Amino acid sequence: MTRTRTAILGVGQYVPSRVVTNDDLAQMFDTSDEWIRQRTGIEERRFIEHAGIGPSDLAIPAVQEACQKANIEVQDIDAIIFATLSPDHDFPGSGCFLGHKLDLPGVPALDIRNQCSGYLYGLQIADAWIRCGMYQRVCLVGAEVHSTALDFTDEGRDIAVLFGDGAAATILAPTEEDKGVIDVEVHADGVGAKELWMEAPASGSIPRITTEMINNRSVFPSMNGKMVFRWATSKMPECALSVLERNGVSLHDIDLVVPHQANIRINEFISEKLGIPPEKVVQNIAKYGNTTAASIPMALYAAIEQDRAKEGDLVLFMGFGAGFTWGAALVRL
Ligand code: UT7
Repeated sequence: MTRTRTAILGVGQYVPSRVVTNDDLAQMFDTSDEWIRQRTGIEERRFIEHAGIGPSDLAIPAVQEACQKANIEVQDIDAIIFATLSPDHDFPGSGCFLGHKLDLPGVPALDIRNQCSGYLYGLQIADAWIRCGMYQRVCLVGAEVHSTALDFTDEGRDIAVLFGDGAAATILAPTEEDKGVIDVEVHADGVGAKELWMEAPASGSIPRITTEMINNRSVFPSMNGKMVFRWATSKMPECALSVLERNGVSLHDIDLVVPHQANIRINEFISEKLGIPPEKVVQNIAKYGNTTAASIPMALYAAIEQDRAKEGDLVLFMGFGAGFTWGAALVRL
């Protein structure tokens, strides 16, 4: 009996045109191109060109391109999953804004808030929907506007240098062929919730936002970088090995690893730990920084554009981020 699987039909990407180099940041606060390159591998990132551009706006061209690559019309999309940690507004979700902007009235839109693991959580949901026959053309988007929530002062420099804006979209559809999503595993552990977070505004605060919050900088993200680094380098390989083992796949069978792009040192550490040659690991952080939920599909897009990912390849995705949340997925393209 043939088994329905979830195929990635097309991938699209959009980044704003404004390039911000490390030297540009060094003019705003105490940092240097050398420090950022050495500690993170980042050379530049993209920021929105002006106010008024949200993640749902960045997602529009990414979805249009993904549909074109998938050979479908935007109107064929029958469900949207929008992964973001920087939604256009607190509510409603960015998926509703995107559906409206794409003229998809009535198409269900689910926002998920799983940060750097958002794409993997979305992939697991989309895969379940498609395998049970609920939807036929799921648009899974990761899109972020970080630049409006960064602290461009000496106090915020550890985080401000890391993040960039961008969007990527994938069109997922059922296939009877021997390809597509083989397995997705995701996890969360709130023990790390306050180690990488944005404390304010907060629903439990009366009122939700105060001048004090702005003055004490709790409206900006904060991170215990060393702890996140340790968890990321432990949990991503652990989860990847778990997925491989459950599916009887060895690391040698993997054609390409598409990891979340948080820090080039994290990915180098993981590839060394797992014994994966660096040429099998996609790295595009130098150009875009960390784009959280958009990072994995953007890295996949880069691999396809550079002819490093081809039909039939066995690809291993992995991600780690705020929550803490993490996951891994095995996909045959
Ligand atoms: O996608 C979400 C997941 N996020 C991650 O996975 C990020 C994980 N963490 C990291 O990637 C690293 O911890 C960072 C890149 C954030 C920081 O690197 P680090 O090697 O852990 O540096 P550090 O925080 O220990 O800071 C070392 C020094 C400090 O100075 P002192 O105390 O040694 O004098 C910092 O104040 O570097 C200083 N520093 C900076 N210097 C120049 C911190 N940020 C900067 C900066 N420019 N932007």
